[in-house]
Amino acid sequence: MEFKIAVLPGDGIGPEISEQGVAVMTAVCEKFGHKVTYDYAICGADAIDKVGDPFPEETFHTCLHADAVLFSAVGDPKYDNDPTAKVRPEQGLLAMRKKLGLYANIRPVETFDCLIHKSPLKDELVRGADFICIRELTGGMYFGEKYQDNDKAYDTNFYSRPEIERILRIGYEYARRRHKHLTVIDKANILASSRLWRQIAKEMAPQYPDVLTDFMYVDNASMRMLQEPRFFDVMVTENTFGDILTDEGSCITGSMGLLPSASTGDHTPVFEPIHGSWPQAKGQDIANPLAQILSVAMLFEYFGLEAEGRLIRKAVSASLDANVRTPEIQVEGGAKYGTKEVGAWIVRFIESSNDISN
Ligand code: IPM
Ligand code: MN
Repeated sequence: MEFKIAVLPGDGIGPEISEQGVAVMTAVCEKFGHKVTYDYAICGADAIDKVGDPFPEETFHTCLHADAVLFSAVGDPKYDNDPTAKVRPEQGLLAMRKKLGLYANIRPVETFDCLIHKSPLKDELVRGADFICIRELTGGMYFGEKYQDNDKAYDTNFYSRPEIERILRIGYEYARRRHKHLTVIDKANILASSRLWRQIAKEMAPQYPDVLTDFMYVDNASMRMLQEPRFFDVMVTENTFGDILTDEGSCITGSMGLLPSASTGDHTPVFEPIHGSWPQAKGQDIANPLAQILSVAMLFEYFGLEAEGRLIRKAVSASLDANVRTPEIQVEGGAKYGTKEVGAWIVRFIESSNDISN
């Protein structure tokens, strides 16, 4: 295949992990005989500083004309601590989602055996937990009508039937490819928008007789995720609930720095780590590049290139087993590797692997 990749390194540790993601992408393409070219574009605080816009038109066009976007992170404390700031890096992310029509955010929550001790949950609860959260990404309160004055404020949780149907369809498709269990998460006892979600899911369920559909209120789901994370296979939910539940999901595995995500929809798909820009670590070569590298695996898998994805996953597991780890996940007494060293180790593993059909 020929890949044209838009690379958006963004802020904080973004550029450092981006570099490793690109190196892995290049190594895998070389190994499997794919062609790849990269177009770099600015976003986030970096773009505000340079051109006053966190998702400039030029960046949008670079993304639009690419086969996939490799995104890293945006965010800078100088904006977090300034409530009067007119433009914020995060608005760039929302603009990217809206303009590229990225309505489906796929966030796998996977455990790595060697990191389970990092989980705040008991080992026996979390071992083997493996589910996917499908978060609706371009609707709900994030984008609904808003109002704010000194005395009152509101955000509207608007959803239309087509928006709900298309994301539920994706939920069902994932469930079919996995363990055939879809949990629709809502707050239908209170919210009209949730009641519509539930009604539409009930209408659609008979089209997927091989999938078990169940419904769970979001408060209950957040509890169940801690009590019995293995209950879940595929969960599907609206934008705000998905934002909250995926943070909870990512930390129960003990490996937040290892979780990638994909956002797909009308135009170019975007692949990115779920963690943020960690500005305090910027330039120190200590950030874990694995979530970014695994987002490259998701990129290949999106294009149906399973062996390529598998080789990346194998290389990542091998690096963990070999204790080639960044400081936050290194075992006691183990040598601490930098972002670059971990990336380089994985690239060498890929280059020297002689079984590309694995
Ligand atoms: C996420 C982030 C974003 C969100 C922020 C940075 C706008 O928390 O991707 O989950 O709330 O969607
Ligand atoms: Mn979030």
